[in-house]
Amino acid sequence: MTDFNDVPAHVWPRGAQREEDGVITVAGVPLPELAEEYGTPLMVFDEDDFRSRCRDMAAAFGAPERVHYASKAFLSKKVARWVDEEGLSLDVASINELRIALAAGFPAERITVHGNNKSAGFLAYCVDSQVGHVVIDSPQELETLDFVARSLGKVQPVMVRVTPGIDAHTHEFIATSHEDQKFGIALAGGEAFAAVKACHRAENLQLVGLHCHVGSQVFDAEGFKLAAQRVLGLYRQVYNELGIALAELDLGGGYGVPYTAHDTALDVAALAKDLLAAVGQIADDLEITPPTILVEPGRAIAAPAAVTVYEVGTVKDVATGDGEVPVRRYVSVDGGMSDNIRPSLYGAEYDARLVGRYADGETVPARIVGSHCEAGDILVSDIALPADVRPGDLIALAATGAYCYAMASRYNAFVRPAVVAVRAGEKKPMLRRETFEDLVALEVD
Ligand code: LLP
Repeated sequence: MTDFNDVPAHVWPRGAQREEDGVITVAGVPLPELAEEYGTPLMVFDEDDFRSRCRDMAAAFGAPERVHYASKAFLSKKVARWVDEEGLSLDVASINELRIALAAGFPAERITVHGNNKSAGFLAYCVDSQVGHVVIDSPQELETLDFVARSLGKVQPVMVRVTPGIDAHTHEFIATSHEDQKFGIALAGGEAFAAVKACHRAENLQLVGLHCHVGSQVFDAEGFKLAAQRVLGLYRQVYNELGIALAELDLGGGYGVPYTAHDTALDVAALAKDLLAAVGQIADDLEITPPTILVEPGRAIAAPAAVTVYEVGTVKDVATGDGEVPVRRYVSVDGGMSDNIRPSLYGAEYDARLVGRYADGETVPARIVGSHCEAGDILVSDIALPADVRPGDLIALAATGAYCYAMASRYNAFVRPAVVAVRAGEKKPMLRRETFEDLVALEVD
């Protein structure tokens, strides 16, 4: 039975704790105080948590610049600066992610650019900005990038994204000989090798390595190892047939995080050790020089660092007609699928706690729902909440730092929430709440 007053340390930010008066603080700042000052829904980032996870990754993979924070998980100029100060590299997947990073002063040479449909204009912007790597996703892009780089009189360092035919999920992985998806160039049928040869011939491209990404929210190393094994087979072929020893292998992102108290945390250091040893062994067996391993974690750095605070509005008991849970208490909060689409989209689960007071006594079967005009607007589908949960209570969901704000929408003309960072008792606003004026600013009258 979960104690609702606990703050599960493996799910909540490292700087979160429940104080004696029942209030939860993050980095010494009470969440109710932040809610009062910035309004709700509010995303609160524990800056030291985020930075410490950058460092953990850097230590696990041997050097900070080998770790490319996947900015699609969450990006703002402040976050780009944290990543820069920690010495990590950055993965961007659109021209605007790249622009935000550059506007924050992130060094272009430590940026890797992704995307399955980069326009010639985007590619020209990448080359012109002198980004560290462009990850080529198709034979067509290869030709366009070579042309664009030639027109600009530059040579662009690139990786080729390979689909090794592996789909790694949380606790299993499925290996197929052929993958029917939009990313990358298939290893199967010699397509990836043909792309490598074309890159080698292209005068304005400099091939530095290959890239693959096996999935997201992955907990075991097997999928990564199998992908590495397949892709390293291509390194050997490239060495034997073209005489090139490719220097880098980017294994993408995907490291899983615990979202609920009963999930277990991933030991990144152990997984990295296992993975690096396996890659070394595979390279030995193939008699090739082991390439430097690069990784692109997004969720594992950003998710645990933030919580989202909501205020409770309507509380309503609903007869379910279900013998096991005859009545469910629907607790509506002032955000929902517009600031966190993950429960509706993926059935994602979250840990929720009252953050302004202790929960005493009885609990009731409950569901935390948002304020949107859609029955599927559910944040936590099945939770035992304190029976006295009432309007005005503050509830926070933990581990919302990744793919929540980043995937936020304006459904029902809601505005995107404010995001504030906290560190050592200090409040640092990162993104202001959108306003009605922001909404109507798009109208062409
Ligand atoms: N690198 C590449 C090429 C990727 O496609 C991704 C994620 C990452 C790195 C970072 O993966 P991470 O370490 O964050 O798992 N919206 C989904 C996740 C989509 C991930 C897409 N690509 C969610 O909310 O779970």
